Amino acid sequence: MRLGLSADELLTTTRAVRKRLDVTKPVPREVLEECLEIALQAPNGSNRNTWRWIIVDDPEMVARLADEYKAAMGVLNSGAMPTPNPLGNDIPGEDKILESAMALVEKLDRMPAILIPLMPGRPDGKGVVEQASMWGSIVQAVWSFMLALRERGLGSIWATVTARREKEIADLLGIPYEEYTQVGFFPVAYTIGTDFKKAWRKPVSEVLSYNGF
Ligand SMILES: Cc1cc2nc3c(=O)[nH]c(=O)nc-3n(C[C@H](O)[C@H](O)[C@H](O)COP(=O)(O)O)c2cc1C
Repeated sequence: MRLGLSADELLTTTRAVRKRLDVTKPVPREVLEECLEIALQAPNGSNRNTWRWIIVDDPEMVARLADEYKAAMGVLNSGAMPTPNPLGNDIPGEDKILESAMALVEKLDRMPAILIPLMPGRPDGKGVVEQASMWGSIVQAVWSFMLALRERGLGSIWATVTARREKEIADLLGIPYEEYTQVGFFPVAYTIGTDFKKAWRKPVSEVLSYNGF
């Protein structure tokens, strides 16, 4: 399936999808590989292609990753909403974000696939130049992957909460922890409906200045 979105529609309606992920519909590996092939066209420092990509689609492993996600959220055994609300500032719809985050937690153990992109090395203790090159050599590819998913009727969420359990996830997946950093944690599923809207963002006038700060 292809939605045939314009470039601008794709860029402005690719949302963090949690409640509307359909965990009952399998996601073929070919679709994931097609999205990754597109993603790998993103720029990366000196075109070294040092990234690695792990897709977990074995249901047992997905369930174990879901437990790590819950542990990272602090809800492994309770299933209760974390309190106090860790967001707590003036973002429109912020109450919905936590509610939606919990909806994701509830269905994560049945997710058709979870992507974990890896970048080589550890950013811990590195200078800005090296860090910028590390993150900058993979973030665009991951976002391209999410855009390619959207165009095909699938969705995901950029999640970093799992960095709290990075070591445990590395052990589970056999990732050499000292050699690779997990860039994030990306549940993947078909979306329930394909109509997504623009989100609230601060207006350009509030965040842009010319010729100086
Ligand atoms: C760097 C980063 C980290 C994020 N971490 C999480 C996360 O751990 N869990 C989660 O449910 N959503 C996470 N999100 C999703 C954001 O909450 C979401 O992008 C934001 O609320 C804006 O919604 P939108 O992407 O639909 O516009 C993260 C997003 C980014 C870019």
